[in-house]
Amino acid sequence: MIWYPYTQMKGMKPPYKITGAEGVYLHANGKRLIDSVSSWWSAIHGYNHPEMNEAIISQVRKFSHVMLGGLTHDPAERLAEKLRTMLPGTLNHCFFSDSGSVAVEVALKMALQYFVNRGETQRTMTLSLEHSYHGDTFRAMEAGDDEDYHFILKACGTSGNTVHIPTNIADLERAFADYGGRLNCLIVEPLLQCAGGMRIYGVDFLRRARELCDEYGVLLVFDEVATGFGRTGNRFVADLVQPDILILGKALTGGYIGHAVTVANDRVFAGFYDDDPNHAFMHGPTFMGNALACTAALKSIEIFERDNYLARVKHIEEISRDYMRDFTARGVREVRIIGGCVCIECEDSEVARGFQDFAYDRGVFSRPFLRYIYTMPPYIISEEDLVCILRVMRSWFQR
Ligand SMILES: Cc1ncc(COP(=O)(O)O)c(C=O)c1O
Repeated sequence: MIWYPYTQMKGMKPPYKITGAEGVYLHANGKRLIDSVSSWWSAIHGYNHPEMNEAIISQVRKFSHVMLGGLTHDPAERLAEKLRTMLPGTLNHCFFSDSGSVAVEVALKMALQYFVNRGETQRTMTLSLEHSYHGDTFRAMEAGDDEDYHFILKACGTSGNTVHIPTNIADLERAFADYGGRLNCLIVEPLLQCAGGMRIYGVDFLRRARELCDEYGVLLVFDEVATGFGRTGNRFVADLVQPDILILGKALTGGYIGHAVTVANDRVFAGFYDDDPNHAFMHGPTFMGNALACTAALKSIEIFERDNYLARVKHIEEISRDYMRDFTARGVREVRIIGGCVCIECEDSEVARGFQDFAYDRGVFSRPFLRYIYTMPPYIISEEDLVCILRVMRSWFQR
């Protein structure tokens, strides 16, 4: 049997069984549902996209996977080159892995070893944000501040190497003053903290973070697994403020195949590149640089650029702002909108309970969590379908 994610299996509501998917629609039990969450924010082109399908099928006919240990291939080389030219500054060095969580582990390990290679072994600490989420593996959980994980982390005991601060500049400055010489990196989900409750904060915080990282010699890591490829309305938040290490996943492959990349700038790469074999980066997931995933990513980026997805996200944001303007209701604490993300924070989780079935009955697949009812639709969504999602979200509070 399947052990499903984030769910108490005992008494679990049976999941909707999907028999087909096309465009923004999922087909479940003979019913057509608009997917309002893009399969955990990854399916930016929707489903069954003819060009994505064709690209992957043609790669399958050549080969699906060979390891990157001692071998290389066109799709991985072309994707690394595409990212190099696409990303700002000197973010030139792509370390591929199979999921966002692993890519975060890679970044954290890279940041630590960067300083160990220089003999700065006192820099064992990570600075991170309250309400952050960086994945489900252990170090990623520790860098995160997800309330669902606190009890399990307490049970095994944390390393004590991570400090969490709120997203305000005074706390940021204090943390650098207190720990600056012991930090190897500051890791953030820039502008939008997704799984922590779709919390939005300002670019000023990131600009000050960049300055402080430079002043104290600390690496700045952007986890753009969720925000990358347009979700905040920016192509990457890294276009606004440049990190030393950038992590991409989810929409990297258009949601077709699990893959991620940790991209290091020239400074970080140079910290590993020397005559000492011990200074090499000892990491290598079996499926890193998978040829199908790299092919999917190349095609996904091609469509993203060709079809001006940033304009589509802007349109999604405009419609959302218009439709949600002045919306208040009993049980609503706040409405937050940025790019292709709309979130209604409820007063408590009880208010959100039952919304999924309510939405299903009205032709929308939703997956609220804690006290957050939200949408992050595929970018190809029509105005009519987007308004349908937003209407369902609003009408939950007006029943
Ligand atoms: C910001 C962020 N980082 C990391 C991850 C983990 O990615 P994955 O689920 O591919 O391991 C997620 C997943 O939601 C995420 O939102």
